[in-house]
Amino acid sequence: MARPIIIDCDPGQDDAVALFLAMSSPDELEILGITTVAGNVPLELTQRNARMMCDIAGRKNALVFAGCNKPMRREAITAEYIHGNTGIDGVDVFEPETPLQEQHAVDFIIETLLAADAHAITVVPTGPLSNIGTAIEREPKILEHVREFVIMGGAMREGGNRSPSAEFNILADPEAAEIVFNSGRPVTSMGLDVTHQVLSTRERVARIRALGNPVAEATAGMLSFFHRYDSKKYGSEGAPLHDPCTVAWLLKPGLFKTRVCNLSVETQSELTLGHTAVDFWHVTDRPHNVDWAYEVDADGFYDLLSERLTRFGG
Ligand code: BDR
Ligand code: CA
Repeated sequence: MARPIIIDCDPGQDDAVALFLAMSSPDELEILGITTVAGNVPLELTQRNARMMCDIAGRKNALVFAGCNKPMRREAITAEYIHGNTGIDGVDVFEPETPLQEQHAVDFIIETLLAADAHAITVVPTGPLSNIGTAIEREPKILEHVREFVIMGGAMREGGNRSPSAEFNILADPEAAEIVFNSGRPVTSMGLDVTHQVLSTRERVARIRALGNPVAEATAGMLSFFHRYDSKKYGSEGAPLHDPCTVAWLLKPGLFKTRVCNLSVETQSELTLGHTAVDFWHVTDRPHNVDWAYEVDADGFYDLLSERLTRFGG
């Protein structure tokens, strides 16, 4: 039976690819809803971008919701310098037919979780955790219905990508992140330590483009755009592909090595705000609250992505 999931995202080229990967896999994943949040770009663009991806993938009946337009206790930060002004530079923007649901994303999350069986639903956040943190704060009972959280966020060995200490999604809403990591439900986290191993090299992007369907072409276009900024920044052969690691882990966990340990979020320090202190070597007795990903089979990841994208036609 397909695992029911809610994808909470801020598209974002890599969020968009995560959506495509999930949509390509109905045998394994049942997408109950796509909730959007302010992050890479403001909310009005992230919700539009998510709906565009549904159009491109031929899933115009997907349920897309708009949620929080700012972090729980702070002002928003965005990342146009990476993603472009649209958030998804690399594809031509159009007004999608996939409708925006009237319900607020946080209300949808609460209602859907409360209606589900105990430990039934997997929540997959690939943006700042504002929607999820707000939902938990407003209705803590939803946690009884969460099977697990599979998050893109945090950094240990890699250091930060938005500040020297912090990864963007955690830095954008550290208070929300703290709520989720301390929720008491299992959390698997795909941080920069692993996403920086998943590089979209020119060869890998060319292989995707050659699949020749609209989803593969959109993916290749977005990854090519991503390439420009990140390859220069990291001096690597290609840009890291962050968010799809969450979905890949759900589809093929054997691609990843993970370790159960403690992760604590810095919410006070001006210098290291949003830092994820990952107790990888178990040097404290803080409770184990995360399954931290630290290694990935990058070729296997791109094989999976390419194989799944063929399902949108050739
Ligand atoms: C994360 O931040 C965003 O820029 C990406 O979409 C990803 O979710 C990486 O730090
Ligand atoms: Ca994202």
